[in-house]
Amino acid sequence: MSLNLALTPPMGWNSWNTFGSKINQAAVRETADALVATGLAALGYVYVVIDDFWEADERVDGKLTWNPETFPSGIPALADYVHGKGLKFGIYSCAGTHTCGGKPASYRYEDVDARTFAEWGVDFLKYDFCFHPPGASGPASYRRMGRALRASGRDIVFSLCNWGFDELPKWARSVGGHLWRTTGDIKDNWSSIYDIGFRRQRDLAAYAGPGGWNDPDMLVLGMRGRGNDEVIQGSEGQGCTDEEYQSHFALWCMQAAPLMIGADIRNLDLVSLSILSNKELIAVNQDPLGIQASCIGAHRNVEIWTKQLADGDVAVGFFNTGTDQRSKTPVSWESIGLPDGAECRVRNIVTGEDRGVWTHNYNSGPMAPHGCEVVRICKPSLR
Ligand code: GLA
Repeated sequence: MSLNLALTPPMGWNSWNTFGSKINQAAVRETADALVATGLAALGYVYVVIDDFWEADERVDGKLTWNPETFPSGIPALADYVHGKGLKFGIYSCAGTHTCGGKPASYRYEDVDARTFAEWGVDFLKYDFCFHPPGASGPASYRRMGRALRASGRDIVFSLCNWGFDELPKWARSVGGHLWRTTGDIKDNWSSIYDIGFRRQRDLAAYAGPGGWNDPDMLVLGMRGRGNDEVIQGSEGQGCTDEEYQSHFALWCMQAAPLMIGADIRNLDLVSLSILSNKELIAVNQDPLGIQASCIGAHRNVEIWTKQLADGDVAVGFFNTGTDQRSKTPVSWESIGLPDGAECRVRNIVTGEDRGVWTHNYNSGPMAPHGCEVVRICKPSLR
């Protein structure tokens, strides 16, 4: 067993946002194919995770099994298919007696279910919190599954989904969690991104680091209002502008959040694919120091988030949360831990534009409403 799981935030795809209860084996295979064909797999998006609704309505001989109509070839064959593409395979269960969709779940079946998942070739388990018996301890239930996974003989990333209840970030790592949801479900609109991404992650940076990550939920980037009916309903899922999707991705990268794509990868538009494929932003997300960005202040609706990187560079994100165009938002070297007067090269890693050498502070370029700029400020060279 490896202790080195999720040393950087997991990247991949999850079926929920697009497919909801309509997930089936063809969609999973086609998504695995598309991850490879689009080049996303080569960039690190390797976990293919099936969310709720893969399960049959009843256990068979005390074990979970798949819905034979939607997964006729079975889950082990699907795991083999995904592994054959060089990808990793994830599945979903719940700490309660039933999943959020009402299917059988793992409360008091943790050992047998963990063994079943390991036998099937599962590499990642998302573990939800519906139908948890009143009065039972949530942390204890998560701890039981964490132990069972460790005893299963297979390396399985443990993704906790109790929506941040019971002060989850404080104990998630100690029960074996590698990532943990900090909020309720994200929707495909700016106000949801704003609430979850900008407001609700602010005080959580101390809990993130190699092996354990705050999870502000899956990306809605690229969904364009085409989400599943269960979560992304009506006006709540009307989609976002290109600038809003770009800011959403940049913020999740700065916050060292798991990058789980929720869109339909088989039908991704080119703008969304190019946002997801930004190697310099991915490198910030996957930086080995594993620091989650902190907000150091705001200047006329532009929030400034900073993240120290392993090579001494500093990433600074300017996020225009207002509805007017903004430019020239200043950030001083002093406020980001660089020596005043140091000559530092600045690169806009959203556009790839070199912004030149600055010595005391940096002023952002123009930003559209809800747009952003992320710069990498290079560590001053010693002379
Ligand atoms: C909960 C979770 C979602 C999804 C659904 C599945 O709402 O928060 O992410 O897994 O359950 O039923």
